[in-house]
Amino acid sequence: MDESGTGSANSFSGLLAASLALFPARFEPMTTALRFRRLIATDLPLLHEWLQREHVRAWWSRRESFDEVVEHYLPAIEGRKPTDLYLIVLEERPVGFIQTYLLPDHPDSAELVGVGTGVAGVDLFIAEAELTGQGLGAEVLRSFTREIVFAHPTTIACVADPHARNAVSLRAFEKAGFHKVNDFLDPTDGATHTLMRLERPV
Ligand SMILES: CC(C)(COP(=O)(O)OP(=O)(O)OC[C@H]1O[C@@H](n2cnc3c(N)ncnc32)[C@H](O)[C@@H]1OP(=O)(O)O)[C@@H](O)C(=O)NCCC(=O)NCCS
Repeated sequence: MDESGTGSANSFSGLLAASLALFPARFEPMTTALRFRRLIATDLPLLHEWLQREHVRAWWSRRESFDEVVEHYLPAIEGRKPTDLYLIVLEERPVGFIQTYLLPDHPDSAELVGVGTGVAGVDLFIAEAELTGQGLGAEVLRSFTREIVFAHPTTIACVADPHARNAVSLRAFEKAGFHKVNDFLDPTDGATHTLMRLERPV
């Protein structure tokens, strides 16, 4: 199911060209194209601004005031909540957000999706609408699961639960090697979500 072949590579090259057009002045050919950096408190105004963008609001929990964003994300930044928050950095520019957590640390979610010990969750968005639909999301998921999620030797699988109608997200997860497990109703938003799962690579 991993489709990291020529087609993806070509579209990712196109994506890099698009990112250079967006951020031409700072490009340095020798920098690593894609990396993840821990979110810090001074990133919260940027995160707040990203969360108001239409293409993000459509599929992400709405937090409209800056105070709501601080209340939700600062505890994790300060190590008081067991969720690891990262900026997605492309060519040294923050272009999105991704988080991971162990499901047993969030018992309500774990019970809802029916998973347990050793299973991590992941959620992400690409903040620049112009950079979506070109292979970046799938590439982020491949890199992030390899470098961050499965860096923990006890993590046996990674799951995500996009809205069942979020075809773009489902396709990005599928391209990164996730498979569909089942649809379920999430009582917190009343919507049908699709549980996607990636086993630890052997
Ligand atoms: C979801 C998201 C992270 C995916 O990243 P991305 O860079 O757009 O994804 P990719 O380009 O790697 O893959 C998207 C795929 O969906 C396809 N696609 C685009 N529009 C589509 C549509 N209307 N229906 C079905 N597939 C569609 C693309 O063609 C691509 O597949 P392909 O490479 O086989 O052609 C990004 O779109 C995003 O941040 N969206 C807004 C927030 C969000 O939905 N977050 C996810 C919450 S779980």
